[in-house]
Amino acid sequence: MTDLMEIIKDRRSVRKYQDKEISEESLNQILESVKWSPSWANTQCWEVIVIRDRKVKEKLQDILPKSNPATKHFSEAPLILALCGKLASSGYYKDKATTKFGDWFMFDLGIAAQSICLTAYDLGIGTVIMGLFDHDKIGEELGVPEGYELVSLIPMGYPTQESGAPKRREISEFAHYDKF
Ligand SMILES: Cc1cc2nc3c(=O)[nH]c(=O)nc-3n(C[C@H](O)[C@H](O)[C@H](O)COP(=O)(O)O)c2cc1C
Repeated sequence: MTDLMEIIKDRRSVRKYQDKEISEESLNQILESVKWSPSWANTQCWEVIVIRDRKVKEKLQDILPKSNPATKHFSEAPLILALCGKLASSGYYKDKATTKFGDWFMFDLGIAAQSICLTAYDLGIGTVIMGLFDHDKIGEELGVPEGYELVSLIPMGYPTQESGAPKRREISEFAHYDKF
């Protein structure tokens, strides 16, 4: 297994994929990483739609904004995960939000998304988290029921090329010690 810090640092967003299937075993490992992700009071508010059908991918691609850099090769991804969250569970106690932030489903799904991307990368599979699209239109196409929201699409596949890392802020620019 690759060193954890190497996995965290070397994972890149991948938006173009080889024409090579992702095995059931790899898919299960990726889903296993969601299963073991932390969540608010272990609510596990995630629901994952596994998309492999070319027709479904092409239909979604038609709805995605052309301006989104991940749209162009979207339907060529052998596998796409749609991350959905159950509303009013994460961050709630007895049907009431417990903090000023209300629903924490976005937070929990963010962690699950990172688990997916890092596990996929460890298996040699490239991913990109997509957040920029019409969530209602895509959610309707995927049959997401009331009480749930589609948050992110994660197309994945074996990368066609290596891509460089976008620049990061230095630790000294974002780390604060003892006070903001
Ligand atoms: C919440 C979130 C939403 C994102 N949405 C998109 C998107 O819609 N389209 C896209 O091409 N990349 C999207 N990205 C990928 C980011 O652009 C990318 O992670 C960032 O530029 C850093 O590059 P790296 O992932 O290669 O390190 C998203 C990333 C996150 C975390």
